[in-house]
Amino acid sequence: MKFFIDTADLAEIREAHSMGILDGVTTNPSLCAKIGVKDFEGHIAKICEIVDGDVSAEVVSTDYAGMMAEGRRLAAIAPNVVVKVPLIKEGIKAIKTFTEEGIKTNCTLCFSSPQALIAAKAGATYISPFIGRLDDISTDGMRLIAEIVEIYGNYGFATEVLAASIRHPLHVVEAAKLGADVATMPLSVIEALLKHPLTDIGLDKFLKDWAKLQAGG
Ligand code: G3P
Repeated sequence: MKFFIDTADLAEIREAHSMGILDGVTTNPSLCAKIGVKDFEGHIAKICEIVDGDVSAEVVSTDYAGMMAEGRRLAAIAPNVVVKVPLIKEGIKAIKTFTEEGIKTNCTLCFSSPQALIAAKAGATYISPFIGRLDDISTDGMRLIAEIVEIYGNYGFATEVLAASIRHPLHVVEAAKLGADVATMPLSVIEALLKHPLTDIGLDKFLKDWAKLQAGG
């Protein structure tokens, strides 16, 4: 399973990258607004200098021509830029053309398996089902991951399932059990994945015993 960080914050990206387990980055307009990004294309270029893996940069146009113009500019920033496109009719048309042009895409805001089927047929590189936002409205987000993995497997679609809107480590574990290709998550979730209280208690005891040994007691 690939791990992406879901943030536009350069310090967070550097922190996750320093662990050596980061495979890519996803951003969205809300994440950029959160840290006050002014020069979007310049900011994406900075992220691509830190990370070799795929970096998703989202278009904000909602018409085909606008999405194509924005996406082509974004894709020209670096070879690892993935153009993130919303799952609407114009977006599907744009994904089809980007695919024909060899530009990678991340089809975002997916909330149903028929939507995911359409995105795969258009040739999306990634499909981003939003697990947490479905859970938020009392709908089983993980069920959607299971359905998409099954449907894509039935037909051998190359589109990778990118579990998004992840809120906690169990989302990552459940998505991994179901065979999702990628999980994108905030730094807090990446760090929570490696935590266990028995590890901390065990390490504390090892170090105290070692200190006693050194003290000759
Ligand atoms: O980047 C897309 C997705 O991961 C957003 O998550 O937490 O805003 O629902 P969230």
